[in-house]
Amino acid sequence: MNAIELARAIPKAELHIHIEGSLEPELIFQLAQRNAVSLAYPSVDALRAAYAFTDLQSFLDIYYAGASVLLTAQDFHDMAWAYFLCAKADHVIHAELFFDPQTHTARGVPMAAVIEGLRSACRQAETELGISSALILCFLRHLSEEEAFATLEAALPFREHFIGVGLDSSERGHPPSKFQRVFARCRELGLKLVAHAGEEGPPAYMREAIDLLKVQRIDHGVAVMQDAALMEELARSRMPLTVCPLSNLKLCVVKDLREHPLKKMLDAGLCATVNSDDPAYFGGYMNANFEQTVQALNLSRDDVVQLAKNSFEASFISEERRRACLAELERVMAR
Ligand code: ADE
Ligand code: ZN
Repeated sequence: MNAIELARAIPKAELHIHIEGSLEPELIFQLAQRNAVSLAYPSVDALRAAYAFTDLQSFLDIYYAGASVLLTAQDFHDMAWAYFLCAKADHVIHAELFFDPQTHTARGVPMAAVIEGLRSACRQAETELGISSALILCFLRHLSEEEAFATLEAALPFREHFIGVGLDSSERGHPPSKFQRVFARCRELGLKLVAHAGEEGPPAYMREAIDLLKVQRIDHGVAVMQDAALMEELARSRMPLTVCPLSNLKLCVVKDLREHPLKKMLDAGLCATVNSDDPAYFGGYMNANFEQTVQALNLSRDDVVQLAKNSFEASFISEERRRACLAELERVMAR
């Protein structure tokens, strides 16, 4: 079995997937029809043709428009269930899903519809597909910290249904420090903490996320390549970085996948993982990310296994579940 075949077959965890970014154009049109929402594009093909991004913001504009078809708990369930079926095909055995409640509550969708719809898909994934999962509520960083506090308040009645909070949306000009107080409150509440940093922003934003927000993982973090001291610190502390290669390519963070820093990150001892970010928009789910990255960077079988191990090391799962995931990895490798 070569490295690509191995990458396809091994069990893995996905830790950086915006569930709204898994909405395929076909499902967007189905839900638009179901909910009588009008779309700016006349057809599935026309919508897909608009997926030519120049940077993060050019993507986010289309991503938020796509999410406008989600209204009911059933919609959120259907979206997440479609994702779990793709995850199963790619041998994802654990997934931590980001969701952006502000995108929905701003349109009058109740927080309960968002969270209960997603939770029911998570439960079904556990019982029918054997995939464990958890939800992470993301604050939109282009909005104010006050709005983040209001969102946290609205979500607290559903506290047992999400394990942590994250920070996403437009990075440049919205440093982690803007959300220091709300993250401190989330920490008091016992929530896990993650944040997007160093996707388009500078390594200084990664430092802020760690020092000021006290995050336990950094989403993306490819800007670590610009700061050798930071790289050394993060390798020593095994701070996980949830890297998304196809996203970085589609949003022009890298010009060519062959220039992606993932291999250098692994060689430096960083706890880097591979993830799909917004698979419906960036050209593929987990295995597409693995296959294309292994090919472009000539990753070895050992690199591939390290990436899978890192994904379980970085997961917010019980030690018992971690042992089971690692045992499953060993079982598949022995085959
Ligand atoms: N929201 C969805 N995908 C995102 C990304 N790649 N970066 C920041 N915010 C996002
Ligand atoms: Zn992301």
